[in-house]
Amino acid sequence: MMSYVEIDPSDYHVLHPRPAYLIVSMDKNGRLNVMAASWVMPVSEEPPRHVVSVYREQKTYENIVETGEFTINIIGPEHAETAWKAGTLSGKKVDKWKLLGLQPLPSKKIKVPGIMGAYGVVECRVDKRIPVGECDLIICEPMRTIVRGDLYQRYGWDLRKAQILMHQRGRVFVTPGKLIILPKRKT
Ligand SMILES: Cc1cc2nc3c(=O)[nH]c(=O)nc-3n(C[C@H](O)[C@H](O)[C@H](O)COP(=O)(O)O)c2cc1C
Repeated sequence: MMSYVEIDPSDYHVLHPRPAYLIVSMDKNGRLNVMAASWVMPVSEEPPRHVVSVYREQKTYENIVETGEFTINIIGPEHAETAWKAGTLSGKKVDKWKLLGLQPLPSKKIKVPGIMGAYGVVECRVDKRIPVGECDLIICEPMRTIVRGDLYQRYGWDLRKAQILMHQRGRVFVTPGKLIILPKRKT
């Protein structure tokens, strides 16, 4: 017999683990910033749109409002420490780009670069912002997406080689380990 217990309905961790990405943004003077983000997902195919939920107090939010651009960087376990620092320090106080020793991967459609070594980069331009509580849902148009050719195949990320970093809670990260391929449906 399965038994269930009630938990606090505001405990969003029930919807984790979720991929942890690095969001790169730039202020109007060209200074780069990076933050970790897990509340990121595709929301429309026609037209293609992704969403990132960003707390309005973040430096990243200021930058995105200023320039209307950012990159979503897909990363793996080797970037966990970077994600943790990018997700716990604010660009309002420290130059995280310098502190973390990040190297830019030039973008083609926007000014904000990606991060050299990321598994993939999505160049995003803001379409609209929707306030929800303390955050804004930043709906963006993916202008250009690049992936590491050795890590991405017909079905998407090759999880044997690209273990997409996911965030559980606090300092705890997870990587996906198993592909479940269902048989083709006959009807
Ligand atoms: C794994 C992880 C995921 C996070 N996801 C988000 C998120 O989706 N949205 C958000 O606003 N903050 C998120 N944060 C918190 C920000 O990354 C954090 O507040 C950061 O210091 C903001 O940096 P900034 O002020 O330089 O923009 C996350 C933190 C971690 C560690």
